[in-house]
Amino acid sequence: MKRIFSGVQPTGNLHIGNYLGALRQFVDLQEENECFYCVVDMHSITVPQDPKLLRSHILDIAALYMAVGLDPKKATIFVQSQVSGHAELNWILTCNAYTGELSRMTQFKQKSQNKESAPAGLFCYPILMAADILLYDADIVPVGNDQKQHIELTRDLAIRINNKYGDTFVVPEGRFLKAGARVMALDDPTAKMSKSAPNEMSRIGLLDEPSKIKKAIMRATTDSEGVIRFDIENKPGISNLLNIYSAFSGKSVEEIEAQYEGQGYGSLKKDLVEITVDALTPIQQRFKEIRGSQLLTDTLNEGAARADAVAKKTMARVKERFGLGL
Ligand code: TYM
Repeated sequence: MKRIFSGVQPTGNLHIGNYLGALRQFVDLQEENECFYCVVDMHSITVPQDPKLLRSHILDIAALYMAVGLDPKKATIFVQSQVSGHAELNWILTCNAYTGELSRMTQFKQKSQNKESAPAGLFCYPILMAADILLYDADIVPVGNDQKQHIELTRDLAIRINNKYGDTFVVPEGRFLKAGARVMALDDPTAKMSKSAPNEMSRIGLLDEPSKIKKAIMRATTDSEGVIRFDIENKPGISNLLNIYSAFSGKSVEEIEAQYEGQGYGSLKKDLVEITVDALTPIQQRFKEIRGSQLLTDTLNEGAARADAVAKKTMARVKERFGLGL
């Protein structure tokens, strides 16, 4: 049995990129592994948040975890700030991370845009992510492709500390899916689908109404060739739609290409609307049932207690290796 850890930031409504790249893996992995799935609220305050909205988003994400199929009897679901070990280990790792390696992180470069006023938390963000993972001795971290660089940094930190202080951390591995690891924006298939892009039509939220899903897919940017063929370089729009189709339907891209041979983009899009709505409707129904329930708060409190017990053990080991405390 492997130990699994992953997290999602409570910033806005999750989109199908989050689902197809990450959450879907969470559900599959819970059957045969020991899983810890976290709502990483401390990561989200690296950019300004409205406190009331943040609390509400934390519960939204936790409810979505359960709505997509995470079972609190199988997986530990909890909120990061409820387990103090994350912040504690974060500091110890910070003292072992190099400013050079942090300044090479593409997400930091994109988000800070070289501004003097970029929060230091944004710079140190990947260290907190490494702390999340290493705190639970995770073997595997299911994520989308955009987190690859952060996982590499986590591994580097674990190896560096193991070499210096003796065996302290499990060196984790990222787990990426073939279809869904990088879902692109519908309006600009050269950029990844993101929660924060200003254009609502660039993404499909897990809680979006069928009419919005239809609009976004029917308007998705394609090309003028009119042939349904996977070719990321020359046909990024159609390739993205094929990818989403494949991830939701379980069919390979080749099968879908064959199925639509000789047909126009309109029929592919129309069917994709149906497949997407069918996949999201049951999630939305479960979300409604769970969001205001006692089960949700009980799950998070029980999850935090379970996570804290594991975190405390790791912290005792880490402090002993570093000579901290008595
Ligand atoms: P976040 O909240 O941005 O995204 C959550 C998960 O969704 C994946 N994802 C995507 N996958 C495919 N296509 C996309 N367009 C797309 N957009 C997002 C992300 O890769 C992620 O798996 N730093 C993390 C949160 C985090 C974390 C951790 C993850 C904090 N600590 C420890 C794993 C382990 C993040 O910002 O994810």
